[in-house]
Amino acid sequence: MRCDRLWIKARLATLAPQQPGIGAIEDGVVASRDGRILYAGPASQAPTLDPAETVDCEGRWITPGLIDPHTHLVFGGDRAQEFEMRLQGASYEEIARAGGGIVSTMHATRAASESDLLASALPRLDALLAEGATTIEVKSGYGLSLEHEIKCLRAARRLASERQVRIVTTFLGAHALPPEWSGDPDGYIDEICDRMIPAVAAEGLADAVDAFCEGIGFSPAQTRRVFAAAQAHGLPVKLHAEQLSNQHGAALAAEFGALSADHLEHLDTDGVAAMARAGVVATLLPGAFYSVRETRLPPVDDLRRAGVPIALATDCNPGTSPLTSLLLTMNMAATLFRLTVDECLAGVTREAARALGLLGEIGTLEAGKACDLAIWDIERPAELVYRMGFNPLHARVWSGK
Ligand code: NIG
Ligand code: FE
Repeated sequence: MRCDRLWIKARLATLAPQQPGIGAIEDGVVASRDGRILYAGPASQAPTLDPAETVDCEGRWITPGLIDPHTHLVFGGDRAQEFEMRLQGASYEEIARAGGGIVSTMHATRAASESDLLASALPRLDALLAEGATTIEVKSGYGLSLEHEIKCLRAARRLASERQVRIVTTFLGAHALPPEWSGDPDGYIDEICDRMIPAVAAEGLADAVDAFCEGIGFSPAQTRRVFAAAQAHGLPVKLHAEQLSNQHGAALAAEFGALSADHLEHLDTDGVAAMARAGVVATLLPGAFYSVRETRLPPVDDLRRAGVPIALATDCNPGTSPLTSLLLTMNMAATLFRLTVDECLAGVTREAARALGLLGEIGTLEAGKACDLAIWDIERPAELVYRMGFNPLHARVWSGK
C-alpha cells in the first residue's frame, strides 16, 4: 500500500475509544496518505506499506495532536492592571460590575483593526502550537456589536491561513452587555437573535454559538432565546455555565442538545444528570479556576459516575485565564481537580474533539482521521501531566505535514 509518510519505532497513545486507558501500544507505527491516517497500530499488524518517506521515532511517544476546545484567543489589549487590582483584594465580579472586566477588553478590541487582532492573537496561537496543539476553538465575544463581532470572527478565521492549524470559531455575542445597551439587556438579546446571528451564519463565520449564562452575564431566559436563534440558523450551541453561581445553565444546554457546557464549578446533581442524558461534554477550565482563586470544585466524581465525557481547555482570555498551555492545563486538572493522567490526556484529545463535534475527524489515532500528531520526548505519558513549565514536544504534525 502506497503511503506518503511512515512513522516507525514509536510508542502510541491512540486514545481510541474501544481500547483500554489511553490505548497504549509499545511498538507502533503510523502511516499517512493525503493528510489522513492510513494505519495507526502495532507494527506487527501493519499492512505492507510502501512509504515515500520514513521517520524513525526512536521510541518516542505519539499522541493525537492536542485540541483546545475553549479559547477567547482574539482580543485587544490586556488586563494586567486588573490582575494587580485583584492582588489588592478586588474580586472578579466587583471589577466587572465597576465597568472593568469583559467590557474593558471590549473597548480595546473595538479600537483594534482586524489585522491588529490577528497580529496580537498569533503569539498566543504560537504558544499553543509549540506544545503540540493542532486544533483550536476561538470565540468572539469582545466586540459586542455586529461590526466588531464580525471583525473578531474574521480575524479568528484568518489564523488558519497564517499557520498549519485547524481553527473552529464560535460566536459569543452574549458574553457581556455592551454600554450602548445598558439597562436594556433584552434589547441586546434581540439584536443578537435578529441581526447578529443571521449575519454571522450567512457569512459562514461561526461553527457554533455560545453564551455566558451568569448573574453578571445573561439569564437562562435570555440564553434560551440565543440558543433558539442559533438552532434556527443551523448552528450548534454550547454554554459558559455554572462558573460563579448555579443558574441551571447546564440543564438548559442539555435541553438544546449542546456540544458542551463549560466551567461547571457550581453544577448540581440535576445538572449532571441532564448532561449525561443529552450527551453534553463537560469542558473543565482549571486555568480560570486557578486565576480567580475559586474554591468550589467542579463535581468531577458525579460527572464520572454519570458517564459525562470530560474535556479540558485553556479558556485563554485576558481576564480569568491568561493561559496558553495545554500541558499546564492538564497539570492543573490533575492537581486541582484530581483528574487521572488518562483523563487529562483524553481531555485534550478525544474528549476535546467530542466537545467540538469533530470526533469523527480528529482526537484519536485511528485510520481515516486527519493525520494530526504530537511526537514527544518522554518515557511515559504521565510526564506530559506532572511537569510544570517544561515542553517535551519533539515534533508536531498537522494534516500529515
Ligand atoms: O471564560 N466567563 C466568561 N468569560 C471568560 C472570561 C472573560 C473575561 O473576563 O474577559 C471565561 O472565564
Ligand atoms: Fe470562556
